[in-house]
Amino acid sequence: MTTAGIDKLTFYVPHHYIDMTMLARQRDVDPAKYLDGIGQEKMSVPAVDEDIVSMGASAGHQLLQNEDKSSIDMVLLATESGIDQSKAAAIYIHELLGLPATCLTVEMKQACSSGTAALLLALDHVRARPDKKVMVVATDIARYGLSTPGEPTQGAGAVAMLISANPRTLEISPEYVTYTEDVMDFWRPNDREEAIVDGQYSIKVYIRALTECWKRYSETTGCTVKSFDRFCYHMPFTHMARKAHTHLNKRLKTDCEPQEIEEQIAASLKYNRIIGNTYTGSLYIALASLLDNEHPAAGTKIGMFSYGSGCMAALFSGTVANECSSITKTLGHHTMLNEREPISYGEYVDLYGRRSIASSSDIVWPHQTTAPFRWAGIQHAGRIYEQNTADQKTGTLRQTGVPHAGTPC
Ligand code: COA
Repeated sequence: MTTAGIDKLTFYVPHHYIDMTMLARQRDVDPAKYLDGIGQEKMSVPAVDEDIVSMGASAGHQLLQNEDKSSIDMVLLATESGIDQSKAAAIYIHELLGLPATCLTVEMKQACSSGTAALLLALDHVRARPDKKVMVVATDIARYGLSTPGEPTQGAGAVAMLISANPRTLEISPEYVTYTEDVMDFWRPNDREEAIVDGQYSIKVYIRALTECWKRYSETTGCTVKSFDRFCYHMPFTHMARKAHTHLNKRLKTDCEPQEIEEQIAASLKYNRIIGNTYTGSLYIALASLLDNEHPAAGTKIGMFSYGSGCMAALFSGTVANECSSITKTLGHHTMLNEREPISYGEYVDLYGRRSIASSSDIVWPHQTTAPFRWAGIQHAGRIYEQNTADQKTGTLRQTGVPHAGTPC
């Protein structure tokens, strides 16, 4: 039988991070609250010349090394930190990566769960057309106000996934359940740079959505917690996964000991703890963390829970494929994470402030990021992206089009 799933998964995170002990001291908070209570040790901070497009293109660049681009006929980009109300950020990435003009290319939104919505649509597409592949990009900058409770749960990064028939990394089961409820736990009106969040309420709704999903999932599939070897959760902060998984075991009255419950999620938490929240990418960085750090054997069954405020949640599952281990070893995630550099509190505040810019002002950003692609600036109210000269040793640089001076309608 033809299976469908994640053929390959890569992620990109900015080169800079802030140490959470230092941030806690600046905020006059006990560092143990950030490190243990929230579960964050480091938080990714984008460089001045990075945004969701440059990060998504950088993740995609790594994904498509040694891949046949001509079989890709769909590019789905998920984000909740969009840069334009009309043009899909996916189009810039499609251009930067040199993908076929025949692609269906679009941007999707539903808070942190749109990466999963994109994945589920992509799976149906490749099940119907097994000779085609879909590139899903989930890219975000998680941003809350300075000195607010949300501040230690920021982060940034992008995930790129190649979705195909007969996948080499994770086969995804066709059975899944979803849950939608109209709630105001987290949202970002068009005129705001930072999200509005009622964090404690959001935690309650997340748990409710998880409970509802499991109820229906077990009714329709007959699966129990014991049907899975490992679990990955959406993580607005790392401790959320622990809270959710402990709740699930208690609610379903499993006989798992605390140590067993921890073992089921431990490897999936490692990356998010040192990256922070990546919104749409968070669940898939949890998956990468599990695959890279534990190298689960082929056949390992993984339960996946996706939550997006507002809210829409999904529960689905995957089975580790035969070639998973050999593929994940080539991706260089550990090297990228180990080569990152800490920034000072002053640099963090400066970078935070530079994100609030009007599209009407022309800008040329200095070269700061070491990523394969960078956001070069703004011209005639349009963003310009280019391949980083540090990454491009020979040949022609890839660049997005320079906008004409348009007339506002
Ligand atoms: N040492 C160890 N742990 C400590 C501590 C200390 N000195 N002080 C507090 N803690 C623990 C608390 O007990 C709590 O853990 P628990 O929930 O397991 O009990 C945790 O640290 C957080 O403390 P809390 O007082 O709840 O923090 P807060 O009011 O500052 O808010 C969030 C925390 C997560 C709610 C807030 O950061 C937030 O809203 N983040 C955004 C979340 C989000 O994005 N949600 C939407 C998408 S799903």
